[in-house]
Amino acid sequence: MEIDGKTRTCGLIGNPVEHTLSPMIHNTLAKLSGHNLVYVPFPVEPGSLDKAIAGAGALNLLGLNVTVPYKSEVIRSLREIDDLARNIGAVNTLVKTDDGYKGYNTDMEGLYRAMTSEGVKIAGEQIVLLGAGGAARAVAYLCAVKGADKVYMLNRTLSKAESVAEEVNRAMGREAIIPMITEDYVKLTAGKYLAIQGTSVGLAPHTEDVVIADEAFYDKIHTGFDLIYNPWETKFMRLVSSHGGKAYNGLKMLMYQGIIAYELWNQISVSDESVQIVYEKLKGYFA
Ligand code: ATR
Repeated sequence: MEIDGKTRTCGLIGNPVEHTLSPMIHNTLAKLSGHNLVYVPFPVEPGSLDKAIAGAGALNLLGLNVTVPYKSEVIRSLREIDDLARNIGAVNTLVKTDDGYKGYNTDMEGLYRAMTSEGVKIAGEQIVLLGAGGAARAVAYLCAVKGADKVYMLNRTLSKAESVAEEVNRAMGREAIIPMITEDYVKLTAGKYLAIQGTSVGLAPHTEDVVIADEAFYDKIHTGFDLIYNPWETKFMRLVSSHGGKAYNGLKMLMYQGIIAYELWNQISVSDESVQIVYEKLKGYFA
């Protein structure tokens, strides 16, 4: 693509941003779709977020992704916010409107699309969700919004799971999330569960760590979804697989959060063929 007077700019704001794979995702999509668009990283210093958003608007940037540590803080600078992002309290994608930016959470829509693309469903499911931090809290909302029957939220610190459950259940008007301390996994009734691993345990370089090491737990899991994609196969995934379950890592979630952002910025649907090309490129970094 030739950069010219009509080139639109998108980018990533966060700190740090040096290790991001988003430029690869978006610049590949721009090339495949023939859009005159470039995507670049913008490191934003602490205390400069409001100025960055105002400046982006003034410079007519088409869209932005937002990463650590600004996903919540950015909300106060937005003109509008999508319902799911408001509920979650975190925004990772901004879309230019006439007078500012509208915020979305494509991380969770990305997880949902990744699961759907693998034939994994949430509606009506019994789900075990490991963790109660920022990522797991968002997953809890997603599961509740998408109609999970029950989500057993297991966490090392019970009080954190309790406060997430209270908040989500209040917002949803039903007891969708059941908070538990991790060791109480033994109390889960017999049956088959979808398990979502939403903690940082098992992330490289600590690849032998896992929240629940007891093999008996994995007999209850029909499918395991880890939000981690580095390593390619986590200990959690290995345990799910060795007990006959299907196991997936978080790379498709990462990819689809980017695809959905790109679709929002350009008001298009990315073709399956393009999705596959982006996935193969991403896989090249990890597999
Ligand atoms: P993120 O934004 O990635 O979700 P976070 O908000 O710091 O990060 O949450 C980390 C999650 O991993 C929490 O659920 C945390 O459990 P606590 O709430 O008890 O801290 C969980 N976690 C991190 N290290 C852990 C460990 N060694 N064993 C068990 N859980 C762990």
